[in-house]
Amino acid sequence: MTIDNHRILQPSAANIRAAASVLMDGRLVAVPTETVYGLAGDATNERAVAAIFAAKDRPRFNPLIAHFRNLADVAAAARVEARAERLAQEFWPGPLTLVLQRRDPCAIALLASAGLDTIAVRIPAHPVAQALLEAFGRPLAAPSANRSGRLSPTTAAHVAAEFGEEVAMILDGGRCPVGIESTILDLSGERATLLRPGAIAEERLTAAIGPIAQVSADARARAPGMLASHYAPDLPLRLDATGAAADEVLIAFGVRVPLGAGLTLNLSPAGNPTEAAANLFAMLREADASGLARIAVMAIPQHGLGRAINDRLRRAAAPRG
Ligand code: TXA
Ligand code: MG
Repeated sequence: MTIDNHRILQPSAANIRAAASVLMDGRLVAVPTETVYGLAGDATNERAVAAIFAAKDRPRFNPLIAHFRNLADVAAAARVEARAERLAQEFWPGPLTLVLQRRDPCAIALLASAGLDTIAVRIPAHPVAQALLEAFGRPLAAPSANRSGRLSPTTAAHVAAEFGEEVAMILDGGRCPVGIESTILDLSGERATLLRPGAIAEERLTAAIGPIAQVSADARARAPGMLASHYAPDLPLRLDATGAAADEVLIAFGVRVPLGAGLTLNLSPAGNPTEAAANLFAMLREADASGLARIAVMAIPQHGLGRAINDRLRRAAAPRG
């Protein structure tokens, strides 16, 4: 890919304001953090979060980290229990990500949580990330700003080499001082569990909150980054539906929709897979709440986010243990 440098901007006050308004439009901005560059979008906007997955070309919906400017904003979105409070005091702002229970309701897009009841949160320390969060006034969903399966970027030029017009703006904060991703600690259950070793050494976490459970190497290898992502609808689900019955919720796609379902929810009447991804988890939840017996999903084409949608739907349709 040719590197086009016109989108790389110095983080002046004017450019930070411009970046905030780009984000308000649902478009994406690459932003330096102390760990690596993040590909940031409005965490409260399902369409913006879908655009992040589309740009990264991820074959599945890994949940994303939501970045906040302060602890009060974190606490509005997630349950900050005692251990989290302790760690927040010691390590935030900084390269520690905590997986916490989402509040209900929660302003963060369901797609950012990949439909889970948990949300990964952190308060970044980098001054450019902080300035952007302050100017934007909302949390930012931001995975590392690389295409799926490639190395995390630690300079603005790395980001420019990865992405074209899908990223409206790249704020240049120089080289990321830490250069490896944040440590991810899951506090959503009884036992604190290390999901990803990273910038904060485990011993420092143990010193603050006591023993931490490990995820087995085997589990990590089978499901990299996906360890908690087992959200499936309560209702049984069938794929490739070309018709539907009165006791079924039809999850439709496109304009040609069969009749007969008890309830029809259309992921994207326009047949747009990014729009479909933005609606997916909310519609699965709506289907669960419908009181009907089953979910029937029409075929979703395998292009763009269609692959990730189909990955998720295949898991939801698989026989349950
Ligand atoms: O340093 C970092 O953490 C960088 C900067 C940009 O903040 N971000 C980053 O994001 O590395 P990403 O998307 O490349 O990695 C996030 C990881 C994924 O492996 C994902 O599965 C996990 O966090 N994760 C996110 N939400 C989760 C959740 N609710 N439960 C379990 N794991 C989660
Ligand atoms: Mg990554």
